[in-house]
Amino acid sequence: MNRNIKEVPTVQALNAAALARWLGLPGVGVETREEVDSTNLRLKEGARQGLIRAPYLLAAGRQTAGRGRLGRRFVSPEGGLYLSLLASPPEGGGPEAVTLLSAVAVCRAIEEMTPLKTRIKWVNDIFVGNKKVSGILAERIEAGVIVGIGVNLQTPPGGFPPEAGIAGALDVPADANALAGRIAALIFKGLEAPNDPAILSEYRQRMFLTGQWVSYQEAGREYRGLVLGVSPDGGLIVSRDGEERVLRSGEVTVGSHLVSRLE
Ligand code: BTN
Repeated sequence: MNRNIKEVPTVQALNAAALARWLGLPGVGVETREEVDSTNLRLKEGARQGLIRAPYLLAAGRQTAGRGRLGRRFVSPEGGLYLSLLASPPEGGGPEAVTLLSAVAVCRAIEEMTPLKTRIKWVNDIFVGNKKVSGILAERIEAGVIVGIGVNLQTPPGGFPPEAGIAGALDVPADANALAGRIAALIFKGLEAPNDPAILSEYRQRMFLTGQWVSYQEAGREYRGLVLGVSPDGGLIVSRDGEERVLRSGEVTVGSHLVSRLE
């Protein structure tokens, strides 16, 4: 056996019946596609045209125009899992609650389905080791909230393109239907109690910037601060020149390449 050749686990094809079984929530519309432009965009369009309504789940095997935060592209080749769900607006929970509970849901689902250990990089990038394996894009629309999640299941042949930054993949056997179903189930259930203090506490435990020095920009200037933790409304608490500040937007950099933004 040539030990230099990495064995790549195959990704199981998405299938609406299997996905619905794993989801286990009978009232949710479920759809799978081999390829779409962007699952978030499909739900947005579908809701706008009155073709779909919450609760709804769409999962795809690749995206031709995957969207990341801040207008960035989200590289979405085959070998990944791309899903979006449409839910009614959470009662009593602001946008930050959706962000926090979605990040926790993705971590929990990956850890249930694989032997991997996950961590969160503020605001909602999911890491395994020092690689980003999943990103989340939550968007408000008139009909409710869309939460879009990309999970890199397998490293593509030839690796991720440079624009994918520090992307990595799970690279362990993982059933795409099972993972998508569990992630969506945890988010739908979480949205029923968006202010559950257990979520904030788990988010804080998993968020690995606490205690690290970060750089960020504010009003066009670059600053450095020591991360003290996460505020109840999802901001990043930093100490700068002895003063506490809560970052809600802006760029946070650790070392030379870990970059995150809160929209
Ligand atoms: C980020 O890391 O910047 C967020 C990435 C979110 C990507 C997911 S993939 C499924 C859904 N459809 C999209 O076009 N984007 C989200």
